Amino acid sequence: MQTHDIRKRFLDHFIKAGHTEVPSASLLLDDPNLLFVNAGMVPFKPFFLGERTPPYSRATSVQKCVRTLDIDEVGITTRHNTFFQMAGNFSFGDYFKREAITFAWTLLTNSVDDGGYGIDPQKLWPTVYLDDDEAEAIWRDEIGVPAERIQRRGMKDNYWSMGVPGPCGPCSEIFFDRGPEYGVEGGPEADEDRYIEIWNLVFMQNVRGPGGGKDNYEILGPLPKQNIDTGMGVERVACLLQGVDNVYETDLLKPIIDLAAELSGRAYGAGSHDDDVRFRVIADHARTSAMLIGDGVLPGNDGRGYVLRRLLRRVVRSMRLLGTGDDKATMGTIIGKVIDLMAPSYPELETQRRHIVDVAVGEETSFAKTLAAGSKLFADAATATKKASRTTIAGADAFTLHDTYGFPIDLTLEMAAEAGLAVDQEGFTALMAEQKQRAKADATARKTGHADLSVYRDFLDRGPTEFTGFDELVSEARI
Ligand code: SER
Repeated sequence: MQTHDIRKRFLDHFIKAGHTEVPSASLLLDDPNLLFVNAGMVPFKPFFLGERTPPYSRATSVQKCVRTLDIDEVGITTRHNTFFQMAGNFSFGDYFKREAITFAWTLLTNSVDDGGYGIDPQKLWPTVYLDDDEAEAIWRDEIGVPAERIQRRGMKDNYWSMGVPGPCGPCSEIFFDRGPEYGVEGGPEADEDRYIEIWNLVFMQNVRGPGGGKDNYEILGPLPKQNIDTGMGVERVACLLQGVDNVYETDLLKPIIDLAAELSGRAYGAGSHDDDVRFRVIADHARTSAMLIGDGVLPGNDGRGYVLRRLLRRVVRSMRLLGTGDDKATMGTIIGKVIDLMAPSYPELETQRRHIVDVAVGEETSFAKTLAAGSKLFADAATATKKASRTTIAGADAFTLHDTYGFPIDLTLEMAAEAGLAVDQEGFTALMAEQKQRAKADATARKTGHADLSVYRDFLDRGPTEFTGFDELVSEARI
């Protein structure tokens, strides 16, 4: 079953059950806690909190989502995408647990001829929150799932929240058993590679306070109404229904891998783990980049723009590591392919084709210049480090690469890791801080006509600052 069909069946199922179809919101919805929309319920948050009255009591959507917190997992695991589609059904003070569970179960297990996904019920394992006897009883007594296939899990796995303060509640997740070749028996508690989470049903009923940490909840009290927020991972369901090994081999991503293979002259799945990871990174990151540019992001040096820049640059580097020559531009062709694949569900990509391709190609061109300028210095630094029997590239080299050649520290870290080396990040950060102080002092001197030396004293007193890097930019770390 193709991804576009999975999407359509989802929407049809819930429209039939009285839900209003709501188009996906932009990835850039304004929420102080979020860099990008990262769940289907984000656009509905004010309805859950009772801040606004929804024009419907039941809604369904397939929301574009971006999560970059797990960027380093992309291509390595079978199921991490930086862009994904979350299909959801929502009840605003209308139905609650019983209907939410029944709606999900019927869509998953109804036959394909009957509008469902035709999944064998024996392969499905629900989980419920520790004390949620009610949800467990519905699964066991009304749906008929054997008690031994229902697992109870704690706050970390089965209590969902968005932001602090924000709506929250216990949840029930549905896992698909991929079979013994994927891991050990025993349900999701035993192995989340074999048992893949496909759908999360959140019984949104409370407001979370500033408890801090994922496990440290402070429940401030109940929401004005009991609500339902569910999220089904469209790519994961596609992976399982298409019987492919991982999400990158599904129908909307595999053609990008095939194109990258054609452009680079290397084969996917030919025995090189590193190459296969690069192919999957290209497919994932190129798609996320096209979707971000389509929603108005431009490459930049901080915030959203930096995330896009990093994604595009990783595509360029991965293509080069697959053997495309330094002068070979491939971005335009790759992004064009992404648009061909995604436009049937997101027609706005077609109307913006020219802009999306131009922005991506512009970044490829400027990054090529950066690489041409800095790669020799990097290679010299790496060789000198190895010659001296050291394993860490000096902070001063990383700083020069950044300061003179425009190499972001992430790039130096990645290239060092590929060469089997580390980077003295503390040294790098200290030099960056020094430079900042110098700039500040210069500005003061320009203003007052004499140098303000106190800033140096202040810097020396504080000592080196900690490098928090990319994570600091990614605000989903806060939810
Ligand atoms: N909000 C929940 C999630 O993102 C269910 O939609 O998993």
